[in-house]
Amino acid sequence: MNSSITRVQARRIWDSRGRPTVEVDVLLADGSVGRGIAPAGASTGSHEAVELRDGGEAFGGYGVQRAIDGIGREIAPALAGRDARAQEEIDQLLVALDGTPNKARLGGNALIATSMAVLDAAARSARLPLWRYLAGDAEVSLPLPEIQIFGGGAHAGRRVDIQDFLVMPVGAADIDEALAMVAEVYRAAGQLMADSGRRAGVADEGGWWPDFDGNEDALQMLARAIEKAGYRHGEVMISLDIAASEFGRDGVYRPALEGRAFTTDEWIAKLLDWVAKYPILSVEDPVAEDDTAGMIAFTQQAGGRVQVIGDDYLVTNAQRVRDAAAVKACNAVLIKPNQAGTISETRQALLAARSLGWSTVVSARSGESEDVMIAHLAVGWNAGQLKVGSFARSERMAKWNELLRIDAALGTRAPYAGRRALPV
Ligand code: PGA
Ligand code: ZN
Repeated sequence: MNSSITRVQARRIWDSRGRPTVEVDVLLADGSVGRGIAPAGASTGSHEAVELRDGGEAFGGYGVQRAIDGIGREIAPALAGRDARAQEEIDQLLVALDGTPNKARLGGNALIATSMAVLDAAARSARLPLWRYLAGDAEVSLPLPEIQIFGGGAHAGRRVDIQDFLVMPVGAADIDEALAMVAEVYRAAGQLMADSGRRAGVADEGGWWPDFDGNEDALQMLARAIEKAGYRHGEVMISLDIAASEFGRDGVYRPALEGRAFTTDEWIAKLLDWVAKYPILSVEDPVAEDDTAGMIAFTQQAGGRVQVIGDDYLVTNAQRVRDAAAVKACNAVLIKPNQAGTISETRQALLAARSLGWSTVVSARSGESEDVMIAHLAVGWNAGQLKVGSFARSERMAKWNELLRIDAALGTRAPYAGRRALPV
């Protein structure tokens, strides 16, 4: 099949928060059409690829006309005639074309949507599902899901300080059972919230709105929900995304609900207390992105018992992963394609982490769409874990449901990563 690119077409569509985002279609000579849609974060790391937004009054400044114009004016002509299967070459071209260290000129949103569309087109040209195109003959497994039950931080008007209270169905036999277990926990949590008169809708990623007086109240409620759903023997464990950059900097932490400021050591002591008291198996961004000493100290004290994930701290960057590993600052990486800005750089970050013995968690953003590519990346790259937000709202469910379809396509040969996906 002739997989050379004949056309690159960008348009404005709308994300799960009702904000503008970039969609790109890539057309190939053989008639294949691939599509990419840029997601968007709310609690972004300061070293991420930068989104190009229009600013001004319209849509709160979130317009993407400049990003779309750049694709039409510069990216489309540069890609014309290129072979869509040459992903790395194309991604290098995109990076060079942008010419800035943080992709600010053409925009990380323009670049990732284009890069994703090229990948999708190449898989379609090969007449393979994307996960299979990526995996080739390699063994793959369905990822352990990390699913949000309460959403806080920047995704819930800072109602509580901690951003994500999630569960991991480590004891499931397969992905079908894993999702069914989470469905029961989500339902039980909603019931407990309703019974206590605290059910107040859902946050940005579909988790229950955290109408709690303290961060630990949410943890307690989550532990109760797991029990109420009938899981008492470690089949469903807790994962926290602290997203501490949102309330900490320069070694001072000011979580509003705790009513006082903490030094790095005091904040770590608080987290260690929670890890000791609750069935927690994973903690993301425990301290702020500028607090390397804190990341090292937390990993040293907790890294033998829990997965320590760098998100804002590592921003899906292979060099940052290697630097962090050299000082033992994490033992896992969150993999978000739009933090890197191209598919190839995303993969490089994942491979760097894997080669260092870390675990890898492919992740959606708080601003999402109907696009399901990350489910395919998680399986095709055999990442081991996938984090997509909660178990509600179709921009989230689309990804979980896609895993079930991939599971069915794999048939009886589909292993589930489960507990083995964790580094501890
Ligand atoms: P974000 O949140 O997409 O708003 O950055 C997700 C996360 O922090 O993991
Ligand atoms: Zn995070």
